[in-house]
Amino acid sequence: MQLLTLTNLDRCTVKAIPPAHRVLSVNEMVADGLARTPKRLPPILFYDAEGSRLFEEICKVPEYYLTRTEKAILEQHAQGMVAGCAADIDLVELGSGSALKTRILLDALFAGGHTVTYRPIDISRSMLERTAAELTEEYADLVVEAVASDYDTGLAEVGRRRDRQKGFLFMGSNLGNFQHDEARDFLATVGAAMSPGDFLLLGVDLVKDQRLLEAAYDDAAGVTRAFNLNLLTRLNRELGADFDLQNFRHKAVWDAENQAIQTYLVSTVQQTVRLPEIDLRVQFGAGEAMHTESSHKYTLDGLAGLCREAGLSLTRTWTDDRGWFAVNLVQPVQPTPVSHRR
Ligand code: AVJ
Repeated sequence: MQLLTLTNLDRCTVKAIPPAHRVLSVNEMVADGLARTPKRLPPILFYDAEGSRLFEEICKVPEYYLTRTEKAILEQHAQGMVAGCAADIDLVELGSGSALKTRILLDALFAGGHTVTYRPIDISRSMLERTAAELTEEYADLVVEAVASDYDTGLAEVGRRRDRQKGFLFMGSNLGNFQHDEARDFLATVGAAMSPGDFLLLGVDLVKDQRLLEAAYDDAAGVTRAFNLNLLTRLNRELGADFDLQNFRHKAVWDAENQAIQTYLVSTVQQTVRLPEIDLRVQFGAGEAMHTESSHKYTLDGLAGLCREAGLSLTRTWTDDRGWFAVNLVQPVQPTPVSHRR
């Protein structure tokens, strides 16, 4: 066991780089969000240990089709997705969460005789260490060079290497948490880390029947409801707050104008909540909605436009039979050759 670990260690590095932008503390995020009108809390706060566990539960409820649909698309088309890859490739994953889906692509690459360095970028060093240990254990030929930092810093680091082809992965419709301009800027940052011949595989959820979308974010078993309310449990524990969970309800609605599911915690009564750790008392009116998440959905035309705005080009899409989810190939725009002039 000891030997195995040591063997794997020489195929694993985790490089921690101080984030370029100061990472806001939970206290700062909460103080800022509750001071706004309307009130809001950022979705990153969902993911304490219990929230991460609940998210994995969400992925298993029948109404939340996203994870299993994306997985099915990858299983069916992985060969085609890696068909254009160079013999030596760096697989750069943004976020190290989707290990299950990463494995499908790694299997396809190794089956095709490729040499692969897996380079996950994630803010959580412990998450990266776990992923690196697991993957090197499973894949005897895999080298893992992880970067622990924010996406901007990690992408700049990875972008300095121009010697091997890079395939970037951003799966699970994680793009959906960004507002339009943030998504465009994020894609442009990925583009800046690309050389000609590099590519991004981008998994996004598609616009569909409103009832299906709303059910995916308000499942009958109440797992998504528990996930949303857990945010308040977290603030009670970490900030000494006194949110009474009985006085808030989960709400998820389709916002047609912004093509997003908007998720809220709605105060059912007029109430005052105390957050002693940040010296705050907050009033909630009866029926007042506090925003906790936007989950944007895309049309293929809309996504192509977004890529274009980011200076990239959507070149291919793989989807499921029902057309519910899409894995997209996004590439740098080919520079137009300048024609000769006399
Ligand atoms: C992980 C951001 C893609 O928006 O669908 C699932 C998170 N929230 N159910 C999504 C989530 C409620 C999820 N993302």
